[in-house]
Amino acid sequence: MDFIKSQEEKLKGIIKESGYEIEKVTLVPSSRPDLGQYQFNGVMELAKINKMNPRIIADAIVEKMKESSDYSDVNVAGPGFINITFSDDVLSRYIDEIRKDVNVNIEKQDKKKIVIDYGGPNVAKALHVGHLRSANIGEALKRLAREVNFEVIGDIHLGDWGRPLGLVILELKKRYPDWVYFNENYEGDYPETCPIENKDLEEIYPYASAKAKEDEEYLEEARLITTKLQQKEKGYYDLWKQIVKISSDEVKRTYDKLNVSFDLWYGESDADEYVQPVINYLKEKGLTSESQGALVIDVSLPGDTTEIPPLLLVKSNGAVSYETTDLATIWQRMKDFNPDEIWYVVDKRQELHFEQVFRAAYKSGIVPENVKLEFIGFGTMNGKDGKPFKTRDGGVMRLAELMETVREETLKKFNPNITGKERDEISELVSVGALKYADLLPNRSTDYIFDIEKFSDFNGKTGVYILYSTVRMRSLLSKAKEAGEEIGSVTKFANETDRNVALKLLEMPSSINEAMYDKSLSEISEYLYQLINTYNNFYNANKVLGEEDVELKKSWLGLTKATYNAVSVLLNILGIEEPEKM
Ligand code: ARG
Repeated sequence: MDFIKSQEEKLKGIIKESGYEIEKVTLVPSSRPDLGQYQFNGVMELAKINKMNPRIIADAIVEKMKESSDYSDVNVAGPGFINITFSDDVLSRYIDEIRKDVNVNIEKQDKKKIVIDYGGPNVAKALHVGHLRSANIGEALKRLAREVNFEVIGDIHLGDWGRPLGLVILELKKRYPDWVYFNENYEGDYPETCPIENKDLEEIYPYASAKAKEDEEYLEEARLITTKLQQKEKGYYDLWKQIVKISSDEVKRTYDKLNVSFDLWYGESDADEYVQPVINYLKEKGLTSESQGALVIDVSLPGDTTEIPPLLLVKSNGAVSYETTDLATIWQRMKDFNPDEIWYVVDKRQELHFEQVFRAAYKSGIVPENVKLEFIGFGTMNGKDGKPFKTRDGGVMRLAELMETVREETLKKFNPNITGKERDEISELVSVGALKYADLLPNRSTDYIFDIEKFSDFNGKTGVYILYSTVRMRSLLSKAKEAGEEIGSVTKFANETDRNVALKLLEMPSSINEAMYDKSLSEISEYLYQLINTYNNFYNANKVLGEEDVELKKSWLGLTKATYNAVSVLLNILGIEEPEKM
């Protein structure tokens, strides 16, 4: 059990011994560090229940607390706030536990199985900045959930079944009508490799998409080809498979660089076999109705304050919708994994879509009430003008381009002694870390402004600062080792700066819990910064390796190790890799 939790339990017992009963004791870091490290504010509640003067109750509790050696000071402030300072002894013992195994400082939860749907790029289109957020936040949530003991299956859910690929294939047919893929009478094998490369897609898709916007006939042809694909028509479907392959290989390369990985590389197309069964099932349940030639499901609920439009199941031209593929995917996930929860890390502008899909899933019983479907929406990364981030000439910023820009900026201030291949590798890790950290720091649902100079600064609340400090911490530990120093045990503190590091470490479990509760990484990002900062204050104020008191030196090294352990776990949750040196 983590330290604060066990101290809360302990205090609960002491309160009982003093003759009072309280359901839950909560200790919070003190707002007045001069009076104590932590405070207990529950006496007011006890006073109300017992119709007594809070001061009298507080005094009685404090009397009992004084019998314990866990506290070096307890006092009452104001009407009955109890201030607590833990004894160095009990504090150092706990920090030493963290040095040995950081898991004591993470509250594990009851096992549950979660499918997490994130990334979700559309094949055929190049990854753009929006795909950073879904991948980055999703990856971190997956790691966080695993850290607290959940079983998590991450699925990229590629957008591979809609019109974008229909458009690309149509345009290819226009340009290369002689390709065997388009010859209905062709009997032989199709070429083994894709006739185009990923970079061709970057030109073809925007071209075809723009053309479809002004050319109704072209758009109609694209619709037809999309239907052919969805019916897996020979030739078209074979070409489709090859394009999906080159495109997802490229997605994989970029996501690898971002340290983002998936257990499943399923796409919308993988749920295709469940589309018809789902439609039949919904019809049998009597949930569908016709509306202007389309098949829809009413998903409104009596208490709705805003109108939730019916879910479009089958369009009037017979095509299935984005909603239908999502319902079919839920069907598939329930069948394959029977999860307790399914999480969707998607741009918050898609909230209505998911609201409709979730309602239909519950209403029809595709998902039982005890399974939780959760939409985890995120805000937009904006430019300094407050509008979605664009390239200099106003186009959509590609993710690879964004990553390159951050790297160039990071390199400007980079250690000149790191050169050659190492410089390339490390600057990549650091710039990716800077980008990821900046993206995880704001609350996930708020929009934020991408400020490259700020994000890649070596000082301030940035990934660069955090990584730099972490590397320095690790190098202190290896220097100590080389010098034959012993690392650990934490047995004593010498001043406020080392004690503050210990106290900061006590806040780790609650930062993790809050992050899990909010499904936002901002708490952890913020806490990581505070922990690093508190450690740096200690580091700058004391000469660890030069310390003459041997036991203190050992203890400080142990404290460094405990902090480093905590930082490693937190960086790992954020999906940020620590470089060898910086
Ligand atoms: N491909 C979609 C898009 O780019 C995102 C997919 C989100 N996940 C889902 N199950 N619908 O907008």
